Amino acid sequence: MFKPSFARTAVRAASQARAAARIANGVRPISTTRVMLKDEPKDKDPFTAATTAAPGGASGQHEGAWARTDENVKIEYPEDHEMPRSPIVQGRGGMHFKRTLASFSLEGKVSVVTGGARGLGLVMGQALVNSGSHLAIVDLNKEEAEEQARKLVQQFSDENPGLDPEDLPKVTAHYSDVSDPESVNKAFAEILAAHGKVDSLVTSAGFTENFDAISYPYDRIKKLWGVNVDGTYLWSTTVAKHLMERKSPGSIVMIGSMSGAIVNVPQPQAPYNAAKAAVRHLAASFAVEWAGHNIRVNCISPGYMLTALTRKILDENPELNKKWTSLIPVGKMGTPEDLMGAVTFLLSDAARYVTGAELRVDGGYTVT
Ligand SMILES: NC(=O)c1ccc[n+]([C@@H]2O[C@H](COP(=O)([O-])OP(=O)(O)OC[C@H]3O[C@@H](n4cnc5c(N)ncnc54)[C@H](O)[C@@H]3O)[C@@H](O)[C@H]2O)c1
Repeated sequence: MFKPSFARTAVRAASQARAAARIANGVRPISTTRVMLKDEPKDKDPFTAATTAAPGGASGQHEGAWARTDENVKIEYPEDHEMPRSPIVQGRGGMHFKRTLASFSLEGKVSVVTGGARGLGLVMGQALVNSGSHLAIVDLNKEEAEEQARKLVQQFSDENPGLDPEDLPKVTAHYSDVSDPESVNKAFAEILAAHGKVDSLVTSAGFTENFDAISYPYDRIKKLWGVNVDGTYLWSTTVAKHLMERKSPGSIVMIGSMSGAIVNVPQPQAPYNAAKAAVRHLAASFAVEWAGHNIRVNCISPGYMLTALTRKILDENPELNKKWTSLIPVGKMGTPEDLMGAVTFLLSDAARYVTGAELRVDGGYTVT
């Protein structure tokens, strides 16, 4: 039986033998591609040998060294009770007379921020309060959320002296494990009882940790996905359902991460990276599904941000600080304050035609 693949192989072998013979006789073949001889070593070219051909882990100081994860990098995250309190931003919330677009205001809205007791969530919540919104802080850590709620109102009052107490923002604190549907429903009912309605949501509850993919304990992967992905899903659908029932427009901002688009180095964290990619695409998918209900859904993807937690980690790992900042075009990490404008914009009417978008606030990390 005739087999075309045998025929092709035979023709190719004959043509290679002819080419080799011509090269041996000093005759240059009429071809722009140099023919690789059978026994010629493949790594003669220093460029190909130095990079892709290098075996994993053999890169030393040069080849791929800055673009690989290192399973030996172990970042110790502090226990919850060892965590320093997150500071709120000072001196930004007073009355001002600078002209700005009125559409950036969140006057009269009620916003929910999950993971709002600390770090980025806390300062984003402060941005919403400074922009005229009432706020419900949702967190695993209710005591800290209550303390921060009091501080936010106190600071607002200090920065806006003479305000009628009725004009102060209402800031409440609620316990919720965002990965547990029952706990989400309970907290949401509590928020409705306190505020009467919800217009906006920011999902900031989330965490990262570092294990190499092979040794990552499966129960920890499920927990990480539960908080970062399920928590985002559950709170978003709960708020969207409420908005649909009220036939009211609304806006949701999910906090993803640049890790949803790139792979961080050197610390290994595959499940976190995948979770943040899921968050980004949840935002896009919900945006399409709920566009007809006038509910906008967007995602903010921060780069490396200096929170109380990351500060503590970097104080203990100065080498990591050097590696991270060497990869950021603006040359430094961001601060929680750098997200204040982004979150306010996306929740406000200034962004009324923006939905399904990802806003990267990463000092240029992901464009290099
Ligand atoms: N800090 C960064 O550099 C950075 C960068 C990119 C993305 N992010 C993302 O931003 C978000 C906030 O991070 P952060 O740095 O402010 O962290 P953080 O640890 O300072 O604050 C997270 C808050 O979420 C709460 N939380 C954790 N699990 C929860 C749960 N199951 N239910 C309710 N609340 C829970 C914590 O109690 C805490 O108050 C996270 O989603 C994180 O992945 C952070």
